[in-house]
Amino acid sequence: MKMLDGKVAIVTGGGRGIGRGIALSLASNGARVVINDLGAGLAGDGVDAGPAQETQAAIRDLGGEAVINGGSVADYVAAQGMVDQAVETFGRLDIVVHAAGVLRDRMIFNMTEEEWDVVVAVHLKGLFNILRPATALMRQQQAGRIIALASGSAYGDAGQPNYSAAKAGIIGLSYSTANAMAKYGVTSNVVLPTGTTRMIDSKPESQKIFEETGKWPSEHARGTPKDPDNVAPLVSFLASDRAANINGQVFHSHGFGYTLVEPPRTLARLEADHAWTAEGLADSFDRYMATDMKPRPAMPFGRDVDTLAGNDWQAIGEGRRYWARKEEKK
Ligand SMILES: NC(=O)c1ccc[n+]([C@@H]2O[C@H](COP(=O)([O-])OP(=O)(O)OC[C@H]3O[C@@H](n4cnc5c(N)ncnc54)[C@H](O)[C@@H]3O)[C@@H](O)[C@H]2O)c1
Repeated sequence: MKMLDGKVAIVTGGGRGIGRGIALSLASNGARVVINDLGAGLAGDGVDAGPAQETQAAIRDLGGEAVINGGSVADYVAAQGMVDQAVETFGRLDIVVHAAGVLRDRMIFNMTEEEWDVVVAVHLKGLFNILRPATALMRQQQAGRIIALASGSAYGDAGQPNYSAAKAGIIGLSYSTANAMAKYGVTSNVVLPTGTTRMIDSKPESQKIFEETGKWPSEHARGTPKDPDNVAPLVSFLASDRAANINGQVFHSHGFGYTLVEPPRTLARLEADHAWTAEGLADSFDRYMATDMKPRPAMPFGRDVDTLAGNDWQAIGEGRRYWARKEEKK
C-alpha cells in the first residue's frame, strides 16, 4: 500500500521545475494527478503543451495515471475547470498543490502596472481561483490537503516587490484557509521552496556560470542539494493522511533539509494608563523598544540554521540529523 493510494491531486505548474518533481512524487506515491501547466515562458508569455505532456509521459513510465489541463490558473473559470476535470476523470479531489509561477522582477520605483498585475494574478489570485472550488468540494467530503508554494522572497526581496507581495499574500491566504477548514478535516500549509530551475537560471549570476561552464545552473543541479526535486518528499508527506495534524504551518525546503518556520510572535509592547502623544511615544520608543527591534528580514532567512546551529545537531540515524531552537523546546 502506497502512502497516497486512492488520492487524486491537482498540481498547478506541474509541467516544469519544482511542480514537475511534485507531480512525479505524488504519482509515485500512488496518487492520480491532474497536471495543470500553461507552458508559459518565465515572464508568463506564450503557451506550450510540451512540458505538461512530458510530465504525463514520465508519470506513465512510473506506472502512474495523469491527465493534462492546459488552462491558466490566473483565470477564475479555467481554475474551476481543473477541479471539474479531476472529479470527472478520477471521481474525486483530495490534494491541491499550487506551484505555478512567473517572474517580472523590477525595483518598486520602476515597476509597471502590468508587471505587478501579471505576477499577483498567477501566484496569489491563482491560489484563490483554485481554492474557491476545491475548498467547497473538500468541505463536503470533510477531507483535503492544500499545499501552496510561497518563497523566502515573501520576507522582502528588494528586487521583487510584486513577487514578494504575492508570496506574502499566499502565506496569509493559507493561514486563513487553515483556520477556516480545520473543522472540515482539511489542512492548508505553505512550502517556501528552493531548487535550481529556470527561475534561478534567469538571475544575472547564472549567466556567468553558463559562460564559464557551458551549462546553466539547473543543468548542474540533478542529484545535488540544489535539485528542485528535493522539495517533493515534503509536499507528498503533507498531502498524505499521515500529515492530518499539520495545519497552518510554513516550511522552508533547502538542500536535503526542511525548516519549520516560526509564525510571527509578539516581541515587545509599550503601554500607558492614558493616551500617548507622538513625542512621548518617540521618547519611550528610543529608550525601550528600539533596543528590542529586530533588523529587517534578511534573504535568505531559512538558511540561518547553518550558521546558528553550532554543535546543537542531534544525530537521528541513517545519515539524518535534527536541530530545534532550544528555548522553544518544551
Ligand atoms: N526555484 C526556486 O528556487 C524557487 C524559490 C522560491 C519559490 N519558488 C516558487 O516555486 C514555484 C515553482 O517554481 P519553479 O522554479 O519550478 O518555476 P518554473 O518556471 O520552472 O515552473 C513554473 C511552471 O508554472 C507554469 N505556469 C506559469 N504560469 C502559469 C499559469 N498562469 N497557469 C498554469 N501554469 C503556469 C509554467 O509554464 C512553468 O511550467 C513557483 O511558485 C515559484 O515562485 C521557486
